[in-house]
Amino acid sequence: MRVAVLFGGRSAEREISLKSGEAVYQALREKDREAVKIDVGPDVAERLRAVRPDVAFIALHGKGGEDGSIQGLLEVLGIPYTGPGILASALAMDKIATKRMLTAAGLPTPPFITLEQNGAALESLAAQVLQAMPLPVVIKAPTQGSSIGMSIVKREEGLVPALSEAFRYDPVVLVERFIPGVEVTAAVLGNKRPVVLPLIEIVAAKGVYDYEAKYTPGMSDHIIPPRIDARLQEEIGAAALATYKLLGCRGFSRIDFIAGVDGKPYILEVNTIPGLTAVSLFPDAARAAGISFADLIEKLIALALG
Ligand code: DAL
Ligand code: MG
Repeated sequence: MRVAVLFGGRSAEREISLKSGEAVYQALREKDREAVKIDVGPDVAERLRAVRPDVAFIALHGKGGEDGSIQGLLEVLGIPYTGPGILASALAMDKIATKRMLTAAGLPTPPFITLEQNGAALESLAAQVLQAMPLPVVIKAPTQGSSIGMSIVKREEGLVPALSEAFRYDPVVLVERFIPGVEVTAAVLGNKRPVVLPLIEIVAAKGVYDYEAKYTPGMSDHIIPPRIDARLQEEIGAAALATYKLLGCRGFSRIDFIAGVDGKPYILEVNTIPGLTAVSLFPDAARAAGISFADLIEKLIALALG
């Protein structure tokens, strides 16, 4: 069976995708699979037609890879692919769309507002934030991953620079109430009957789990199981499964949470192509469940074909 590993791409998360793609490629080689790497650019359709793969392993992150667009192309070309389909990918790529879905379904997510730039002065948008909720807040570019365009704002004077940073990436930004608590992630694997792999608590060395903490070895710790009570762990697992089903995910996804100091779970976002690098969370959750990295990659291919 020939596997095309789609990686790289043009999103802000390209560097991570290069690592995820290489790790996937090495795992396929370890399993004696015929694997061909394709760095995704405008010629991807021609490349795929030339390679004629039996399945595509999508190791892309961010726009153009995790948002339904490459999934749509693969559907048109009739090539099965790993991970969620078009709709789930598109919904999850937009944190605002995800939160609206969660809210409509009664699933817990931090309170939020959205702000459109549309010629408005950043100072007046900052005033709207202060009117809507107390600081600290989390300002996010809703269609980015890996904390790109994300800032935690504790003081008023931090609002304008944070809004300006988020607007670099998206015309509408998300402002969320900051929820004090523990960051926990739930890796979910499967198609019709998905399972939650062991939950992971994330501890960032400098306190914030940002881009640097995510991808610099030694700058964050993954603690399994999380140091939260068993009831909250169960609630997070159940909310992760409900979210996976709500968005229509398949294959795999990683759902990020805050286990609030108030004892409640808060869903932050859904990653439909979670990082697969050496320091990534999903492979760690799989290992804790007794699934090696190479076996996980094989399993994702089986789910793509199943
Ligand atoms: N967006 C990165 C790759 C992750 O969620 O792991
Ligand atoms: Mg993400």
